Amino acid sequence: MSQNITLIATTAMGLESVVATEVKQLGYEVTVENGKIIFEAPVSAIPRCNLWLRSADRVKLQVGRFKADTFDDLFEATKALPWENFITEEGKFPVTGKSVKSTLHSVPDCQAIVKKAIAEKLKLKHGVAGNLPETGSLYKVEVAIHKDEATLSIDTSGSGLHKRGYRNGQGDAPLKETLAAALVMLTNWKPDKPFLDPFCGSGTIPIEAALIGQNIAPGFNREFASEEWNWIKNRHWDEAFEEVEDKANYDQKLDITGSDIDHGMIEISKENATEAGLGDLISWKQMQASDLVLKKQNGYLIGNPPYGQRIGDEAEAAEIYSDIGKIMKNHPTWSVYILTAYDHFEQKYGEKATKKRKLFNGFIQTNYYQYFGRKE
Ligand SMILES: C[S@@+](CC[C@H](N)C(=O)[O-])C[C@H]1O[C@@H](n2cnc3c(N)ncnc32)[C@H](O)[C@@H]1O
Repeated sequence: MSQNITLIATTAMGLESVVATEVKQLGYEVTVENGKIIFEAPVSAIPRCNLWLRSADRVKLQVGRFKADTFDDLFEATKALPWENFITEEGKFPVTGKSVKSTLHSVPDCQAIVKKAIAEKLKLKHGVAGNLPETGSLYKVEVAIHKDEATLSIDTSGSGLHKRGYRNGQGDAPLKETLAAALVMLTNWKPDKPFLDPFCGSGTIPIEAALIGQNIAPGFNREFASEEWNWIKNRHWDEAFEEVEDKANYDQKLDITGSDIDHGMIEISKENATEAGLGDLISWKQMQASDLVLKKQNGYLIGNPPYGQRIGDEAEAAEIYSDIGKIMKNHPTWSVYILTAYDHFEQKYGEKATKKRKLFNGFIQTNYYQYFGRKE
């Protein structure tokens, strides 16, 4: 396919600007909407975006977008789209849906209508008389209706992009890899500066930092649904994988440490880092945060401590924040970034944040408290 396609990089609420920056860095011009970054790009952007985007949830191919407040409109406008360009005669195309603030609010009915419209179009264009076999590659279609505007898309990613393929073990409250990467990208950390996560759990933030530090594409260790699609030439995937190899900077030295009070989590972190191909690049240490000793200057502490949300845990969380605040007061050249849902964090930490940003950790509304270190 030679003409441009329209892609949507979907994002968690609050991460739109981070994903938009990533897409722009890949060379595409973007339009930003709630939860999605929309851009026109050549087909080669499908492999590149899936391999490189660190903070996006998925990459979807937008097949069409139109007003629809009757089932007839939905059917006809769906059927008018060029599905045959994307879905082969044997393609499997399950349809999922969502509807928000729209006249067509019955999602099962919308899904059934879209399914029927696509099937009719494919049969007509591929010249199939009976039922479509649906035995081939997967093309997961979504009909998303928002204020009577329908967006029809096909998922190019397969499993969500947070599934990098390295996290085999995890604790009770793991961060999504996409959010962990965003937390790192929201700081001014540079790979030559010390980096510490004293609440590392399964190691997600230090591992994402190491991938960023050596410019390793987060998707290098997994597969994508669109690798099976015959209209994306192998050449595009080969070139994207070559770019991944060319741009990785395995010589970049890193000074990244992850520590946690729980010895078991440190073992899991080590295994996950090995799985990510990072071997000995990250130092891991069992330690409680109150025992933290920092010997270097100009470092970055980035952490996702316990939020104290379970009954009885609040006092413990408050004590951890207060301990960290006291320690970091003695290290003014360090920048500190803490993600928590705890409402009185700044009070317990003992200082007002330089900046704070609302972010969602799954369904939990959190703040990302940012204290900028003094420049020496
Ligand atoms: C929300 S989890 C972090 C999850 C992590 N970001 C991940 O992706 O797996 C909080 C972690 O803080 C650790 N923790 C709790 N109290 C601690 C303390 N006083 N000092 C250091 N770590 C502590 C827990 O063992 C847990 O792994």
